[in-house]
Amino acid sequence: MYGNNADLTEETIFTWGAPPLKFGAGASDEIGFEMSQYGAERVLVLTDPGVAALGIPQRIVDNLKRYGVTATVFDGVHIEPSDASFAAAVEYAAAHGPWDGFVAVGGGSAIDTAKAVNLLTTSPGELMDYVNKPIGLAKAPPGQFKPLIAVPTTAGTGAESTAMCVLDVLSMKVKTGISHWRLRPTLAVVDPLLTMSLPPEVTASAGMDIVCHALESYTAKWYAASDRRKPEERVTYCGSNPVSDLWCERAMDLIAKSFRRAVHHGAEDLQARTDMIMAATFAGMGFGNAGVHIPHANGYPIAGMVKDYRPSGYPQDEPMVPHGQAVSLTAPEAFRFSFPSAPERHLRAAELLAPDKEQLSDPAEQLPQVLIDLMRDIGIPNGIGAVGYDESDVPKLVPGTMKQQRLLSTCPRPVGEEEITRILRNSIQNW
Ligand SMILES: NC(=O)c1ccc[n+]([C@@H]2O[C@H](COP(=O)([O-])OP(=O)(O)OC[C@H]3O[C@@H](n4cnc5c(N)ncnc54)[C@H](O)[C@@H]3O)[C@@H](O)[C@H]2O)c1
Ligand SMILES: [Zn+2]
Repeated sequence: MYGNNADLTEETIFTWGAPPLKFGAGASDEIGFEMSQYGAERVLVLTDPGVAALGIPQRIVDNLKRYGVTATVFDGVHIEPSDASFAAAVEYAAAHGPWDGFVAVGGGSAIDTAKAVNLLTTSPGELMDYVNKPIGLAKAPPGQFKPLIAVPTTAGTGAESTAMCVLDVLSMKVKTGISHWRLRPTLAVVDPLLTMSLPPEVTASAGMDIVCHALESYTAKWYAASDRRKPEERVTYCGSNPVSDLWCERAMDLIAKSFRRAVHHGAEDLQARTDMIMAATFAGMGFGNAGVHIPHANGYPIAGMVKDYRPSGYPQDEPMVPHGQAVSLTAPEAFRFSFPSAPERHLRAAELLAPDKEQLSDPAEQLPQVLIDLMRDIGIPNGIGAVGYDESDVPKLVPGTMKQQRLLSTCPRPVGEEEITRILRNSIQNW
């Protein structure tokens, strides 16, 4: 047996990674100490204007100063960043650098922008060299990055622990990402107190992102179902595996306990906020290694091709479909489709998310109905129709989904244009 493994054709290996974590109320007051441990003297704090107005980045700057670290705030992060907004942040960082480290303060938008700035100020070439194929060249960054401390202020993306960042490529009207292990932050500092001020709409949308991360990675193709990879071919997302499963299950428990409370009573319920950001962190540790599939693949064109939808609770200066809404709108139908691949996993997930829900006569309906109950209760739009798309848009959305081959390859069932068309069409209205 031993010695012949190089000849195996089936996959027997999975990978799992996450940065060190500092979690809990008040954790963000320890960032100065943490950054000083890396020997950094001059750092850039990246945030968006909304979070800057809350005073959170300034408190972190003051804390850094106490430990002898000089910090400058860049508050120009664009909500749902694009190639253009990444370029503006990189230009600022390059013009005012060099920096010994970065601190990202905000939701996924700020954390992803900081990851891109870290990449493009330490590696040669251009953004498109590193963007996923087929949109970019998916090159591996050659160099060492600077320390990046990620401090989420939303409970959603899990971006503080993932090795990827998402961007809107404006000229192609498509969202895509960069994924490489070097993008993973050096340290995640997760402080639930920073999320108390989240508006209900952002709590709901970002929370649905957690739900989809947990569900999609839990139902992703099992890692051993792929062909065996050579060491240099291994990708960040290896499919569902025993370690990611644990995190996803725990994330779903916390969601069941606290999601509705966080949306409806978030301003005063620290326990609910703590559970939600812990769920976000856990789901990030799951999907950040297992990967996501159809709901996220559909979410990219749904967000990228937005017409004039402007969600309340978000900046109103331009139309947008927030990531968490975009990925959840086709989730009920996507899980109807994926059900036959692993019925027991879909039923287990439904039970974790809604332990008191009655058993429906059609088991394939259990998880979709649990999702629909939740989405109605927390005010998620009713299908892609409610964010501006109709039947005639479906053929235009399909190619944007098909471009997300990295995601579709972790789908537990083969999926092509015909299946995606049907899923989008059946998601125009979800209830
Ligand atoms: N890298 C990853 O692993 C990953 C995973 C999922 C999503 N994403 C990306 O993350 C982005 C979405 O991030 P998000 O959902 O965290 O939201 P966000 O960063 O886009 O912020 C949403 C809104 O909430 C506001 N906000 C943030 N924190 C606040 C607080 N504490 N109080 C009040 N308002 C606050 C912001 O100012 C903004 O208006 C998308 O671009 C998405 O594609 C990345
Ligand atoms: Zn997501």
